[in-house]
Amino acid sequence: MGVVVDFEDSGKRKASINGLTDLVKVDLEQVNQTIIEHMQSPVALIPQLAGHLIAAGGKRLRPMLTLGAAALCDYKGDRHIRLAACVEFIHTATLLHDDVVDESDLRRGQESANAVWGNQASVLVGDFLFSRSFQLMTADGSIEVMRILSEASAVIAEGEVQQLITTNDTATEESAYLEVIKGKTAKLFAAAAEVGAVVAERPKAEQQALESYGMNLGIAFQLVDDVLDYSAEQEKLGKTVGDDFLEGKITLPVILAYRRGDDEERAFWRRTLEELDQQDGDLAKAQQLMAKHHTLSDSLDRARHYASIARDALGLFEDGPAKDSLIDVVDFCVERAY
Ligand code: IPE
Ligand code: IPE
Ligand code: MG
Ligand code: MG
Ligand code: MG
Repeated sequence: MGVVVDFEDSGKRKASINGLTDLVKVDLEQVNQTIIEHMQSPVALIPQLAGHLIAAGGKRLRPMLTLGAAALCDYKGDRHIRLAACVEFIHTATLLHDDVVDESDLRRGQESANAVWGNQASVLVGDFLFSRSFQLMTADGSIEVMRILSEASAVIAEGEVQQLITTNDTATEESAYLEVIKGKTAKLFAAAAEVGAVVAERPKAEQQALESYGMNLGIAFQLVDDVLDYSAEQEKLGKTVGDDFLEGKITLPVILAYRRGDDEERAFWRRTLEELDQQDGDLAKAQQLMAKHHTLSDSLDRARHYASIARDALGLFEDGPAKDSLIDVVDFCVERAY
């Protein structure tokens, strides 16, 4: 009798963020406290609007990456608290701006800030939160940290502008799409994780490994986000399913369907996504074409590819609870429904 070798041991892993949440629980409470303190302003609309979004929760994934990376690097100080809050401020600011740009009216399971207070207030409070993030960076005082986080802010904005250019363009290449998602999403994941190693003053190779972990995790995360926009249960997702289609966003599920489609199908994609001439039933038709050409499952395969790179990037580090929880996060990001 031969020995049965378990080809993949992923069965043992949990696709969950609970391990990381437990690991950084005490730190995360302080991060939330720092966030609440720094969203205050004598201008009442600012804490009102920001508080609406912040109190709705969200996964707090990016600040937990900073805290988890610091734990992995055995960091004993407290700089990571303020910097994790800074990372979440950058994220929150981009969400406020993103929902204006995408005309989205649902966020974290409730009305988006732009739906409640309008676009102008959302953009301006987003600017305020960005500025607060810079105050948190300067309070930390490290030029290296400032370089990483300010660069991430600039790259996110570049990614969003780049996306604007590819919107409604069905000829967009997969490579251009990848550049967009690296910029708008993955760069902040990378910065969040890298900062955890930087405060711990770990060797360059470990800082780079955590940056690579974050970058590849972020790519996988956005690929899955773009799949969920066509396939999620809206209730669980807390965002409107079909928003990307409505706006003519050219995401990987669309790029693959367009490339694999016949003339008639391509005419459908051009009408709906380029001309934005959409009728009842078009979203369902889009979902059918994606099923026909397996473009959601193939997009998830792409996500799994980047997820593997993220996992391998942690190879340098010692085994233990911090590493385990960061690996479980990778699985969560691929298998998540919200
Ligand atoms: C939403 O990010 C923006 C994207 C990059 C897709 P999250 O899904 O992490 O949002 P919250 O913070 O949990 O609400
Ligand atoms: C994420 O892209 C953009 C940001 C990083 C702000 P999406 O536009 O797909 O994010 P959601 O789906 O609205 O959260
Ligand atoms: Mg959006
Ligand atoms: Mg967007
Ligand atoms: Mg999305």
